Amino acid sequence: MSFEILAERPDDAAHIDPLLDLTFGFERQQKTVYGLREGLAPAPGLCFSAVAPGGGLLGTLRFWPIDIAGRAPAILLGPLAVEPALQGAGIGRALVRHGLAEAKRLGEEICVVVGAPAYYEPFGFVNAGLAGLLLPGPVEADRFQVLEIVPDALQGVSGMIRRAEAFATAESLRRA
Ligand SMILES: CC(C)(COP(=O)(O)OP(=O)(O)OC[C@H]1O[C@@H](n2cnc3c(N)ncnc32)[C@H](O)[C@@H]1OP(=O)(O)O)[C@@H](O)C(=O)NCCC(=O)NCCS
Repeated sequence: MSFEILAERPDDAAHIDPLLDLTFGFERQQKTVYGLREGLAPAPGLCFSAVAPGGGLLGTLRFWPIDIAGRAPAILLGPLAVEPALQGAGIGRALVRHGLAEAKRLGEEICVVVGAPAYYEPFGFVNAGLAGLLLPGPVEADRFQVLEIVPDALQGVSGMIRRAEAFATAESLRRA
């Protein structure tokens, strides 16, 4: 399967929500991580699409700004989703690899994810609870993981993950 990873294109947004509904189900909006993202804009420069040679969207990965106990900015990886018919062809891993490299290039130091440990451990993610981090809601302990994009970035950093309100969208501020 041939594909390339691009910065998310303006027209991709209309295809991303249906893909997320298909891959995660509608109940995705109840999740603790959704609460961290709702009403906030993704981290600037950190939204990616896997694209077929003809331009069609095959997969999506977005990162969101978060904050660890007011001590350190960080990013939250996800949602990550790949078209069901094309899963297992390396698209998800390519999105994560590319996304983390871009995050590093843009100066991000810490990345958090809630996902399958077997999928994220090869990228260097470790258990976030054991690293001293907390999430503001229920989560399966082994799925909550963190990556030091920059070595030792978690030194002296622990506590509750919070929303990065500075990234609130104009629409959510109007509703508040
Ligand atoms: C999870 C997902 C993004 C992976 O993308 P993908 O393009 O299918 O995955 P890749 O081809 O890059 O990698 C495939 C490998 O990941 C493994 N894998 C896929 N989903 C996994 C999961 N939930 N847990 C553990 N391993 C998983 C596969 O077993 C395969 O392993 P192998 O290479 O040893 O055979 C994709 O399957 C998807 O959209 N799933 C539904 C949405 C979802 O669950 N997203 C959650 C991300 S935490």
